[in-house]
Parts: sequence; structure tokens; C-alpha cells
Amino acid sequence: MSELTTRTREYYDRVAPTYSEKFHEPLGHIASALKADLGWVGPKLSENAAHAGRQSIKMFDYACGDGAISKTLRPYVSKILAVDLSDSMVAEYNKAAQAAGYGPEKMTAQQGDLFSDEASQSLSDPEYFNFDLVTVGFGLHHAETPVQAVQRLAERLKKGGVCLILDFASGLRESSSDPSTIAVDGFGREEMKRIFEDADLGGGFDYVIIEEPLIYDIRGTRRDMQFFMARGERI
Ligand SMILES: C[S@@+](CC[C@H](N)C(=O)[O-])C[C@H]1O[C@@H](n2cnc3c(N)ncnc32)[C@H](O)[C@@H]1O
Repeated sequence: MSELTTRTREYYDRVAPTYSEKFHEPLGHIASALKADLGWVGPKLSENAAHAGRQSIKMFDYACGDGAISKTLRPYVSKILAVDLSDSMVAEYNKAAQAAGYGPEKMTAQQGDLFSDEASQSLSDPEYFNFDLVTVGFGLHHAETPVQAVQRLAERLKKGGVCLILDFASGLRESSSDPSTIAVDGFGREEMKRIFEDADLGGGFDYVIIEEPLIYDIRGTRRDMQFFMARGERI
């Protein structure tokens, strides 16, 4: 495991128990932005929103943290398998799912890492392939080689399946509570397009900046951070 990965894992192990509470407001804003246009993410999601879960959608929530993206999308998908580098985040995810009445048949998380040179063997089981939807919420900036990271995720998608990435547009190192865990300062449209295309995810590519920024309190200073959502389909 690289030094950056070790630092990142230790950092998230430490903050996991208070993560949702500390970032309550930005996480609420992210959820609203995501729900605002489910059809943009994938037509099957908005059909399920209109007709309560008719189509089977298997989702992979990568870098799931304690479950912000899963919680937002779970009403519209059939099953979620989630993965995070941090054992404590995984524990928080599974605790919150259970508390909300969802068992492993609906959603469950386990520890793993597909971003490092050696991908976790624990994720080689066939159930970790053939997804309809792969999401990465604010995790890609921890990847030392984002192109390889997204290629690894693309392999997990069905042909025609959707990859959805949310992350910061720029200025992340300056605004992070722990800059030593940040590999990439942010992703612009052209960079994301190239990353998606290199991973054969260029079908229906789009990248949108969310107008209203996320507001963080970093060591007593207010930081406004622009974030984006990017999507593409596996060709
Ligand atoms: C900013 S948090 C976002 C969590 C969640 N997706 C959300 O939107 O609230 C970043 C997450 O990425 C995870 N992470 C960082 N590097 C990772 C890696 N190589 N593999 C899996 N997860 C990773 C961290 O442990 C952390 O939970």
C-alpha cells in the first residue's frame, strides 16, 4: 500500500464516526443535486422513481464512505454493493443501513481497494461485476492514477451501464482538512472526458458543474467549493 493510501485510510478511519454529522450540510446539498435529474444519470433510475423499483438496477458504490450516495439512490435501485478503503467507514455504512431497516440483500459494504496497483482480491468474486451503475462520490481525488482507477471501475460495468462520478472541480488541496490525502486537486471537464474515454466510458458523456457551491468550514474559515457530476456509458 502506498504512503498516500495508508494516510488516507488512517484519516478516514479516524473521522468515520463523526463524518455525517460534520458534513451534514454539504452532504444534503449533494443529495439534492443528485436527485434533481435522475434521468440524466440514467433513464432506468427515473423510470424506477416514477414506478417504484420496477427495473432491476445493480449498483456499485465505490469509495462509499458512510453511505451518502447509496442513501440518495437506494429508493431507485434494486441492490447496492459498496466498497471503501476504510474499515471504519464500512462499519458506519453497514450500521446505518441496518438502522434504516436495510439488510445485505439490499445494501452492504465491505473493505477493498481498486485504486492501488494491486486491486483487492476480495473484490474478484463474480458478484462484484456486471453492474448497471457504478458511482464514485468524492473518492477519485484520492486516486494516484485516476485513469487506471476509472478503468478498473469500468471493468465492473455491464456494456451500456453508467459510471457516475462526483467530485470537486478545483482547489481541493487548499481546502481539505487533510491535504496529505489528496492526489488530485480537482477535475475539469476536458480531463474527465479524457479519463472516461480512456476507460471506454465515453457513451453519452456529460459533465455538469453544480451552480451552488458546497460550503465547508475548514479550520474556522469558510470555503466555497465547486463540484461536478460526470456520467458516461460503457461502450
Ligand atoms: C470524501 S469521502 C466520500 C465518501 C462518500 N462517497 C460521500 O460522498 O460522502 C472519500 C472516501 O473515499 C474513500 N477512499 C479513499 N481512497 C480509496 C480507495 N483507494 N479505495 C476505496 N475507497 C477509497 C475514503 O475512505 C472515504 O470514505
